[in-house]
Amino acid sequence: MHRRFPNLTVLDHPLIQHKLSILRSRLTKTKKFRELVDEISMLMAYEVTKDLPTEPVEVVTPLESTTGVHIKGKKLALVPILRAGLGMVDGILKLIPSARIGHIGLYRDHETLEPVSYYLKIPPTDHERDFFLLDPMLATGGSASAAAAQLKRQGAAYISLLSLVAAPPGVQRMLDDHPDVRVFVAGLDRGLNDSGYILPGLGDAGDRLFGTK
Ligand code: PRP
Ligand code: URA
Repeated sequence: MHRRFPNLTVLDHPLIQHKLSILRSRLTKTKKFRELVDEISMLMAYEVTKDLPTEPVEVVTPLESTTGVHIKGKKLALVPILRAGLGMVDGILKLIPSARIGHIGLYRDHETLEPVSYYLKIPPTDHERDFFLLDPMLATGGSASAAAAQLKRQGAAYISLLSLVAAPPGVQRMLDDHPDVRVFVAGLDRGLNDSGYILPGLGDAGDRLFGTK
């Protein structure tokens, strides 16, 4: 747990930190950027899932029977916030291939920085299903807070947010609006500029992922 934000875990594994530093560089081009988002997301998912509940299962090996474990409960759901969250899906699916996938369409109005909602389709919100909300950037927190509220309105009870880079106002906003949602990040940065970009950050995640600028 983070000393300033009880909802926050910074994943400081050396591989994650090494890859995040390359991701931040302005010299990192689209193809490499995509690969790194994929790899970091996979490593983050490995860390975030380390406390998933398991239950015993009987396995028959070629030699004899034994008791193994499998993960308990409903299939996990990944919910990327469009569009930049899409870049995090494939890496996590490599570890959790049977995860269900929902989509939340939100963009941040450039003037007001308020989120504008345009799409929502998520798997059934059975009680035991864990939802992983995915968005590389947690800046003011407006988008992630609105997305978590949409998931809750649909009945989701267990939500975690996975972001690559966060700014303190975004983490605080999540703590204020959704204290029950755990926030996992690769980096907690210094702050925001006047346009709501994270400093030092990595720029516009959607544009860098999709090559739109
Ligand atoms: C970016 C990012 C988050 C949001 C973060 O998306 O991917 O969704 O901004 O900012 P916030 O915490 O201040 O809400 P953007 O609105 O640029 O949309 P895009 O993914 O379609 O590029
Ligand atoms: N969205 C981004 O893509 N980057 C930021 O720094 C802030 C919001």
